[in-house]
Amino acid sequence: MKTLFEPFNLSGAMLQNRIVMAPMTRARAANDIADEQTALYYTQRATAGLIVSEGTPISRQGQGYLLNPGIFTAAQIAGGRLTTDSAHSVGGKIFAQLWHVGRVSHSSIQGDDALPVSASSKAAKSAMAFGYDQNGKSGPVPVPAPRQLSTNEVEDVIRQFARAAENAIKAGFDGVEIHGANGYLHEQFLNPRVNDRTDRYSAESLQNRLRFTIDVIDAITNAIGAERTDIRLPPYGQLFDMLLYDEINETYTALVGAIGQRKLAYVHIMNQTGFKRIDKGSEETNHGNFFALLETFKHFLPHTALILAGGLTRNIAEKMINNNIIDLAAFGVPYISNPDLVARLKNNWPIADADRNTFYGQHAIGYIDYPPYKPQQYNK
Ligand SMILES: Cc1cc2nc3c(=O)[nH]c(=O)nc-3n(C[C@H](O)[C@H](O)[C@H](O)COP(=O)(O)O)c2cc1C
Repeated sequence: MKTLFEPFNLSGAMLQNRIVMAPMTRARAANDIADEQTALYYTQRATAGLIVSEGTPISRQGQGYLLNPGIFTAAQIAGGRLTTDSAHSVGGKIFAQLWHVGRVSHSSIQGDDALPVSASSKAAKSAMAFGYDQNGKSGPVPVPAPRQLSTNEVEDVIRQFARAAENAIKAGFDGVEIHGANGYLHEQFLNPRVNDRTDRYSAESLQNRLRFTIDVIDAITNAIGAERTDIRLPPYGQLFDMLLYDEINETYTALVGAIGQRKLAYVHIMNQTGFKRIDKGSEETNHGNFFALLETFKHFLPHTALILAGGLTRNIAEKMINNNIIDLAAFGVPYISNPDLVARLKNNWPIADADRNTFYGQHAIGYIDYPPYKPQQYNK
């Protein structure tokens, strides 16, 4: 019987266990630079086998929310170093999640009042970014129709991903995860109901739709190596107006096949099909389809680990690991309120609830003040 608590060899890097802290935007980085508080937050959680950092913008253009630590300036690289040094000092491993939001942004964040860019010229209906309103007050702002990137500009974005990966390694991260989920730029290329291009990145063929993501993977693996590269994917995800389409299985099977051939460290699959916490609009569930598809992925990944996130518990995760469906289990919300999640799962201690009101942007409260479990305190 395999357990969550045994070490795991991730492309040569030994993880302490099979538990992953899922990437979570917490919007607390003043000036978009990670600081000592960020370092403390991650270090408190560094008993996870692997931490995936919050979404980390690769450029100003790729940013859709204020207070996210980016990885495109020297100050941001130095800020990231505080976290990686601190997490490593207690035996942790941490990858940076590289993020370009595409059309889910707002002119007030882009600089020069520019429009957000995308694979598409179609707006994400009812989507909100987090920027400044007409009075200069920060808060949720509706996203406009984007400007479609030219072919040359797409190539620039691919280079920006590779540069951000190099910067992440300079900052001491153990690797990078391409944020291919949640309705952001990669899905805007992959989804034929969103991608309205006519060039070689168009939706006219599967190969063209996959091209941007595969080019980004190749640029990053050339820059930092396949063993330090991975990607997060959300088959059947519908966040930010990602409409369902007929070729979902074909698309993700082909993409996972390409990832397997390239021997990436892992692919991180996100289950959004029964997931209502951050997407209230997603009433249509596709649970059955999702799990059938997930079971096929393993065949294409002889050298690449498979991580699953979304609604997992210890029991579900261990069952899936023992059935050889996944290798590692990622936990999101439980990691917000349980810095010692590994010990709590291992000892069957209670899991504390997270306060949704402090998910984002409330400074230290709800961020670094969740205590570890103290059994003696409750046994008196
Ligand atoms: C506050 C919050 C912020 C999140 N930010 C990100 C993010 O930056 N990148 C990402 O890929 N997923 C993000 N997610 C999704 C989580 O990584 C995870 O997939 C999700 O919470 C489901 O796992 P869970 O059921 O264990 O919470 C976020 C989730 C929450 C609750």
